[in-house]
Amino acid sequence: MGYGLKNAKFEGLNNKAGFKMNGAIFFSGKYGSTAQYADWIGEATGLPVFDVKDASADPSKYDFLVLGSSVIIYKLTIRNWVKENLANIVKKPIILFTVSGAPSGQKLDDWVADSLPKNLLSQIEHVALRGRLNPKEVSWWTRLILKIGAWKNDDPEAKKQELEGFDFMDKSSIKPILKLAQQFQSSRATSSQ
Ligand SMILES: Cc1cc2nc3c(=O)[nH]c(=O)nc-3n(C[C@H](O)[C@H](O)[C@H](O)COP(=O)(O)O)c2cc1C
Repeated sequence: MGYGLKNAKFEGLNNKAGFKMNGAIFFSGKYGSTAQYADWIGEATGLPVFDVKDASADPSKYDFLVLGSSVIIYKLTIRNWVKENLANIVKKPIILFTVSGAPSGQKLDDWVADSLPKNLLSQIEHVALRGRLNPKEVSWWTRLILKIGAWKNDDPEAKKQELEGFDFMDKSSIKPILKLAQQFQSSRATSSQ
């Protein structure tokens, strides 16, 4: 997927007669890596950061959204919040960052497509970030789920990661998100956006 407002998805955002676009970051994660990426993006862009667990996280006030989601058992953890808030986000441009063990690729694209409503996918720019997993920090129950996942996984690299953990946190990987967010911040939207 390309980055930038030349993308047909984001046409019409440069109307100079409009108002300046404001945005916010909404994230969903459990073990801290998605929150860490959300904070880094917030620091670099000045956008406010909300955990979707926070009841005051209201996307209706913003012109564009940065959504961050961890991936757990092939699904985006932000999916229920997205469904609950669909009416408020469906017409807005969205930058989605996923945080997962898997790298960007078809597998991850399929998990994204399976987790989100079809009509939303067309207005999303997806950037895949890689997270962190420390098996010692999760419950025995989650460790068991990971062991079962490893047992069923025929990708030897993914199998090893599920058993031994990994740390792919990389601050520089947020650059494409910053570029997109800054383009939105410096563009203007019509009042219908
Ligand atoms: C129970 C469990 C299941 C997971 N399932 C997947 C998965 O299906 N695909 C994947 O790429 N990563 C998977 N991961 C790795 C997480 O996406 C990764 O640890 C991420 O950084 C967690 O985000 P958080 O720290 O914000 O909670 C899983 C992690 C756990 C604990």
